[in-house]
This record gives sequence, C-alpha cells and structure tokens, in this order.
Amino acid sequence: MTTRPDSAALLAWYDRHHRRLPWRIGPADRAAGAKPDPYRIWLSEIMLQQTTVTAVKPYFDAFLARWPQVSDLAAADEAEVMKAWAGLGYYSRARNLKACADAVVERHGGRFPDTEAALLTLPGIGAYTAAAIAAIAFDRPATVVDGNVERVVSRLFTVEEPLPDAKPALKRLAATLTPKRRAGDFAQAMMDLGATLCTPRKPSCALCPWSDACLGRAAGAPETYPRKRAK
Ligand code: ADE
Repeated sequence: MTTRPDSAALLAWYDRHHRRLPWRIGPADRAAGAKPDPYRIWLSEIMLQQTTVTAVKPYFDAFLARWPQVSDLAAADEAEVMKAWAGLGYYSRARNLKACADAVVERHGGRFPDTEAALLTLPGIGAYTAAAIAAIAFDRPATVVDGNVERVVSRLFTVEEPLPDAKPALKRLAATLTPKRRAGDFAQAMMDLGATLCTPRKPSCALCPWSDACLGRAAGAPETYPRKRAK
C-alpha cells in the first residue's frame, strides 16, 4: 500500500538533513524569521544553471566578497566580471549577470522583484530561475523543477512517458506536491532529496521520507525512472 507523498514528511526530513550551502538560510533560521538575501539566491542560481555545487562554491564566495550587493555588481566593470567568471564556463551567463544587476538597479531601485512574472523579464532569468528565486528568496509557492526534481517525481508517480516529452506532466505533478507554506524550503528539499538519496543509480530508498508513498519503489525498480526516449 502506498500513501500520497506528503510535503510535511519531506520538510521534516529537510529540517534534519538539509545540505549546508553558502547561499542558504537553514530551516531553523528561516523559522526564526531570518530572510534569505535575494541577491545571493539569484547569484547562486545563475552559477548553478550548468555547474555543480562543488565547482560553484569558491566562485560564489569570491563574487560575494568582491561585490557584496547587487549595486556593487552593477557598478563593476563588465570586463572584471567576465574575468572573475573565468573557469565557470557558459560565458553568456556572466554577460547576463551584469545586465541583470544593471536592470535591478535601474528598473527596481536595487531590489529584486518578488514575483515569477517580474523576475522573468530580467536578463538571464528563465522559467526555472524565476521559480527558484520566487520560492527560495521570497517563499512564494512556485514549483521549481530541475533534473533532480524530475527524477524524484517520475519515480514517485511511475511516469511512463519518456523525457523530454514528460516535462510538462512532471511539472504538473510537482506542482500538486508544492505546499503553500514553506515553499522555499520545500523547493530546496526536493533538490536535496534528488542529490543525496533519490540518486540516478542505487537510490537510498531505506532512508527516504517518501519511501512508503513511492510507486517506483513499490514496483521494485525506482532506478529505471525517469524513462528516456530511445535514441
Ligand atoms: N541547484 C540549483 N539550485 C540549487 C540550490 N538552490 N541548491 C542546491 N542545488 C541547486
């Protein structure tokens, strides 16, 4: 028998096992009223778009030490920003980073907008990043779907449609899980679950807060999801 995956169970797991990352506010601090810095969340999400957490950390620290606020980045010389980005790759991200900092200062007085729709109008911010910033920085109930989340959801619901066709269905299913409260912690919990337990190979189902709710596990083959279209 499986039960429906419950956001409270995942959040309770996240409270104990969340990854400590330099841009994050831990769940206890958040519960005590601490607010994440949208500049840090934005900077980390842009860096994490095509780069691993391990590779991002030193760059994130260096950028923050040199340009502590979005206004500092807007005032910086673009060539200096490009130089500091060297090694992270996908250099259009760095050009857009500078353009976005300029736009936040010029159009929004140096404060990041707090809705997905407004975030989407900024350079370098697409659907994924707008949802991530809205949820993580502003606790809006936006659904954040990256590769980790697609894996978790496809296993929970044994989605048979292959990727990439399944993307819209996976997003809809993910949206049914997103809670109204603690949406930022929930988004990060989904990412952490995918990165640490619900891994591509040999998932650690015995430790998973959703093991009883997971149809992939009930079917005995969670690692065969997500299905991929035959090449
Ligand atoms: N990958 C993309 N965004 C992330 C985040 N906020 N935490 C961990 N990994 C991520």
